Amino acid sequence: MKILIVGGAGYIGSHVARESLDQGHEVTVYDNLSSGFRTNLFPEAIFIEGDILDYPALLAAAMGRDVVIHLAAVKAAGESMVKPEKYSLNNLCGAVNIINATCEAGIRRLVFSSSAATYGEPAYIPIDEKHPTRPENYYGFTKLETERILGWYDKLKGLRFAALRYFNAAGYDAKGRIHGLEKVPANLLPVIMETACGMRSELQVFGDDYETKDGTGVRDYVHVSDLARGHMSALKWIDENDESLIVNLGSEAGLSVLELLETARRITGRPIPSRIVPRRPGDPAKLVASSALAKEKLGWTARESDVTTLVQTTWDAYKRSGKA
Ligand code: WQD
Repeated sequence: MKILIVGGAGYIGSHVARESLDQGHEVTVYDNLSSGFRTNLFPEAIFIEGDILDYPALLAAAMGRDVVIHLAAVKAAGESMVKPEKYSLNNLCGAVNIINATCEAGIRRLVFSSSAATYGEPAYIPIDEKHPTRPENYYGFTKLETERILGWYDKLKGLRFAALRYFNAAGYDAKGRIHGLEKVPANLLPVIMETACGMRSELQVFGDDYETKDGTGVRDYVHVSDLARGHMSALKWIDENDESLIVNLGSEAGLSVLELLETARRITGRPIPSRIVPRRPGDPAKLVASSALAKEKLGWTARESDVTTLVQTTWDAYKRSGKA
């Protein structure tokens, strides 16, 4: 298939591009390189440098493709609460442009990067797709709203979509083919890595008084290569079934901050200084996915999302970058 990957130079997008190429598809990456990297581009893929707010350029890129995968968004939940305009423009206006360009180009398949942030504070664990969607931040709202728009386009325009609700994406391609490290990481594992490299003096552990196994926050970390495979399985499913799908992609394992930190100390052999600080406002104690639906419909389960692989592949990426 001819696949247009919007946001294909970014962290998750580049892994999806790699997987698409590995599966023999013809790939075009459309990216404005605002958070993506030229080093994340592959010579086998066509690259178009462009912005999702530039509708004519986007439409031209979509023409002649069979499928669109949309991963171009801003994603810092905290920032979305102080700069909602930025999130409205990129994640809502940008998504509408992509969806309209997809339809105008006569494409009837779209895969959308959604998020577990659509659920908000968990009412129960594990979180399945029937869980209420009450996002606690504006970022999560933009993802949920895009899913709803896609739902209408399914009815009105026959656009079949898969919205993939990722849990905490982590790790790097185990074969070392992705080189760009996120520019200003705020997520736990890259922050641990930057501390291991001496780029930060310590890891601040946000609270150790949660009702969890060791008192620190528990999350469902899912390897980015598992996510990439999930995109391809979802694409196949909507194509074969001519039906849209909203599905979680998570490992179903809950890892605590301290478990990741201890694994990182073991793998890197670095001390990684840490200090317990107060809880970060808005952080739930525990988020763990049910991926039963992904297993049932897509035959998908996480394969590389064990703590050792998550940490090892991330550390390898830091070493390759010269930062370690
Ligand atoms: C993980 C755990 C922190 C940093 C965010 C977004 C969410 C989604 C994924 C896109 C928590 C703790 C973290 C640190 C720490 N994004 N922590 N010290 O908050 O679960 O989810 O990324 O869809 O929308 O909100 O991820 O990596 O920030 O935190 O102790 O320096 O690590 O408290 O328990 P989070 P995270």
